Amino acid sequence: MRGIILAGGAGTRLAPMTLATSKQLLPVYDKPMLYYPLSTLMMAGIRDVMVISTPRDLPVMQALLGEGAQWGMRFSYAVQPEPKGIAQAFIIAKDFIGYQPVCLILGDNIFYGATLGAQLQKAAKITSGGHVFAYRVRDAQRYGVIELDAAGKVLSIEEKPKMPKSPLAVTGIYFYGPDVVQVAEGLTPSPRGELEITDVNTHYLRAGTLSAQLLGRGAAWLDTGTPDSLLAASQFVQTIEARQGLKIACVEEVAYHRGFIDSAQLQDLAARYGSNDYGAYLRQLLP
Ligand code: TTP
Repeated sequence: MRGIILAGGAGTRLAPMTLATSKQLLPVYDKPMLYYPLSTLMMAGIRDVMVISTPRDLPVMQALLGEGAQWGMRFSYAVQPEPKGIAQAFIIAKDFIGYQPVCLILGDNIFYGATLGAQLQKAAKITSGGHVFAYRVRDAQRYGVIELDAAGKVLSIEEKPKMPKSPLAVTGIYFYGPDVVQVAEGLTPSPRGELEITDVNTHYLRAGTLSAQLLGRGAAWLDTGTPDSLLAASQFVQTIEARQGLKIACVEEVAYHRGFIDSAQLQDLAARYGSNDYGAYLRQLLP
């Protein structure tokens, strides 16, 4: 399965923080925001990842993440000239996707929770159709809203409905078969001029091939699009890390535990941080 991190957009709600840099490069407590969606893909077992961002920000992301070999990954990069919608990512990544199923994650979405690894690995097994994650939120009318029956079958999906049929939002991680490229190419831009991911999901719903998993109340799905939600995400990560002494979204740790790198490689990665806390954390993972 291929992975895509969509990390463009204007980040207008975070200005002036985003006047000269990308939202997805801002820190969430102790690491760049991009590490969170990247480690989510890695937990799903995905090793081929394309990062899509603006012409201004892509070179900095490339400087941060490199070719991926240091983490046992393969990264490629592509520009989204203008933010014309989440579903445009599949058209940009057409050659990268080829005949593989694909997982798209939004670059500003943070997932955390005990059942997450197993749920992601289940989702990453799909080879056709569409698969999304549903999460209960207080203010569903701000999101794509998904309605499920008792057996977990998807009944409806609506983009920012005034009267939500359920409290479940569609989260920012989506799994599709390789035909998602043709589905995206066949979309008409919405009134706001974007190729909408909800229209992709509606396509699969109508075809009877959309499935969903519920991320339960024990999991966290955080977004970081406003100053308040960015601070809340940082505080959440800081609280868990300080309490447990374990890091959230430490890409080196995920790579090591998944067997993408060995202990000699982890030691080299730790060395680049000298004696700082991040380096000390990586060193204590070594046998
Ligand atoms: P948004 O939060 O909807 O948009 P934004 O990041 O530009 O922020 P703002 O509303 O404050 O201007 O986007 C969600 C995620 O998807 C975010 O990581 C940016 C990304 N995105 C793109 O990369 N390209 C796009 O065309 C769109 C619509 C979003």
